[in-house]
Amino acid sequence: MHLPTGLPKAELHLHIEGTLEPELAFALAARNGVTLPYADTDALRAAYRFSDLQSFLDLYYGLMAVLRTAEDFTGLTDAYLERAAAQGVRHAEIFFDPQAHTARGVPIGTVIEGLSASLERSEERYGISTRLIMCFLRDESAESALATLDAAKPYLDRITGVGLDSAEVGHPPAKFREVYEAAAALGLRRVAHAGEEGPAAYVREALDVLGVERIDHGLRCMEDPELVERLVRERVPLTLCPLSNVRLRAIDVLGDHPLPAMMEAGLLVTVNSDDPAYFGGYVGDNFDAVRDAWGLTPEQLRELARNSFEASFLEDDEARRGR
Ligand code: HPA
Ligand code: ZN
Repeated sequence: MHLPTGLPKAELHLHIEGTLEPELAFALAARNGVTLPYADTDALRAAYRFSDLQSFLDLYYGLMAVLRTAEDFTGLTDAYLERAAAQGVRHAEIFFDPQAHTARGVPIGTVIEGLSASLERSEERYGISTRLIMCFLRDESAESALATLDAAKPYLDRITGVGLDSAEVGHPPAKFREVYEAAAALGLRRVAHAGEEGPAAYVREALDVLGVERIDHGLRCMEDPELVERLVRERVPLTLCPLSNVRLRAIDVLGDHPLPAMMEAGLLVTVNSDDPAYFGGYVGDNFDAVRDAWGLTPEQLRELARNSFEASFLEDDEARRGR
């Protein structure tokens, strides 16, 4: 067995819009009469040279112009699930960015209905259980996040939790205290991106002010030993995305990634793909990359896969079945 691919695993940090492959983008552009500012898929791929998070986000939001109908979101999700299944994913907790669509005139209901139509068939078609996590764009206002939560109310039966993504620096977690309190009152689980480009203090604030159960990325916690101790003690999961960190220049080369040090410190870390169409690989490819970078043993790879179920929002008995 090809170990990383064959290992059953959960993917906990995956932006569905970040699974939009160039071929699908051009097919949707043709179907929807959208003109893309790239001659072809090669030209688009050639633009995937990012200098930081913002340079990626500019392209990522731009390409979303091709996603217009519920069927577009269904097809996008089907394509992700098929690729994920081929890399051993048995459970996926999927982020989506409603404000990136409503700002373009696509209603939130169209987005959620479209995603759900695929997710409802996922167990049966792909053997993957799923959860949906609605993210707020942290470079938009707190009022816009509250309005988004309000607009999502008719669809809360499809949504497990809320997250926080987009440009991090200058947009500390505390900006979203009110919407996270409202989400908690509605029974939603809470996660947030923190410590990707932003400081360790943002990780602390996401825990203390937003009450998150899981930190997305969290790389820079390593600059704060007391915070690391707390994350270990409280078993707060960190959803790492190693290939993303290299592509967005959070680190220079994979060998500089703190993943081995984080495992050594006893942190509950998981390996995920973030935006696989843009960053050079799906979750199995991320597992391959970390195995090759440090010669991780089969037992260490199994530990990472086990962590992904422990860190998931599956109930305990379901999580055990996944392993
Ligand atoms: N970081 C923050 N926001 C994002 C990302 C990311 O890696 N991908 C999509 N939105
Ligand atoms: Zn992310």
